[in-house]
Amino acid sequence: MDNTAQIDYWNGAAGQKWVKEADGLDAMLLPFAHAVLDAAQPGPGERVIDIGCGAGALTLLVAENGAEPIGVDVSSPLIDLARRRAAATGSNATFQVGDASAWTPPEKLDLAISRFGVMFFADPVQAFSGMRAGMKPGGRLAFACWRPLLENEWALAPMVAAMALLKAPPAPPPPGSPGPFSFGDADHVKRVLTESGWSNARLAAWDGKIEMPGLNEDETAEFMLDIGPLSRAIAEQELDRSAVKSAIAKRVRELSDEKGRTRLKAAVWIVEASA
Ligand SMILES: C[S@@+](CC[C@H](N)C(=O)[O-])C[C@H]1O[C@@H](n2cnc3c(N)ncnc32)[C@H](O)[C@@H]1O
Repeated sequence: MDNTAQIDYWNGAAGQKWVKEADGLDAMLLPFAHAVLDAAQPGPGERVIDIGCGAGALTLLVAENGAEPIGVDVSSPLIDLARRRAAATGSNATFQVGDASAWTPPEKLDLAISRFGVMFFADPVQAFSGMRAGMKPGGRLAFACWRPLLENEWALAPMVAAMALLKAPPAPPPPGSPGPFSFGDADHVKRVLTESGWSNARLAAWDGKIEMPGLNEDETAEFMLDIGPLSRAIAEQELDRSAVKSAIAKRVRELSDEKGRTRLKAAVWIVEASA
C-alpha cells in the first residue's frame, strides 16, 4: 500500500516542526526511549533497526550500548538532523531516508525498535510482515505507541482548550487509518503483529506524567501549537494561530506548577514480539 500521504506530511511542515522542537521533544519523550531499551535489551554487536527514527535520539542511545543501529525514516529533514547529531557525538549509528515498510537490511537483524514511529503505515500488516522478513530467526521487536487520545492528557488538553476556536471539532480518523493514535487498541496491535507473522506479541501499559517542553506558559503553548493533533487542525482549518495560542497559554497556566513547568498524563503501550 501507498505511504505517500505520510511521506509528504513528514517531509513538509511537520518534519520542519519536529526539527525545530527536537531537543524539547527528546526531553519529553526520554522516558519512552528508556522503556523501549529496557524491553529490547540491545547487546554489543547486535544489528538493530530503529523504525521511524526521526532525529535519532533512540538510535543514538542504542549505539551507546555497543549495538550497531541504523535509523530509517521517510523524513529527509529529520534524518539530516540525526546524521548531524551522530557526527557531533562520534556515534557509530547510521541513518537512511527510506520507507521502513519497504526497506530491506543488507544483513538480517537481531532487533527492531521504535519510539512512536510505527503507527503511520497505510497497511500495517504488510509493513510488519516486511520488517519481520528482515529479522534473524528469534529476532526481537520492541516499540512504544500511544494509547487512545482520550487517555493522553498531553495531547487532549490543548485540543480541548482550543475547541471553542475550532471551526469544527476534528473528525476522528477513520478506523485503521495511519496516525499517532492508530495503535491505541491493544487487540488491534496484537492482530497486526500476529497476522504479519510475529509471535508472542505482548503489551505492557505505561502510565505516568511527562513534562511538556517550555520554561513558561508561552513557550509550552508554542510547543503545543507545533506538535500533536491540534497542529493538524490549525493547519487544516486555517485558524488564527495567535488566538489559539492565547487559549492554550491560559490552560497551561492553570495546569502548570509554581515554577511554570507543565506535567501531563501520558498513556502508552510498550509492545514486544519475536520474529
Ligand atoms: C512521532 S515521530 C517519532 C520520531 C522518533 N522515533 C522519536 O521518537 O523522536 C514519527 C516518525 O515516523 C516517521 N515515519 C512515518 N512513516 C514512516 C515510514 N513509512 N517509514 C519510516 N518512517 C516513517 C516520521 O517521519 C517520523 O519521523
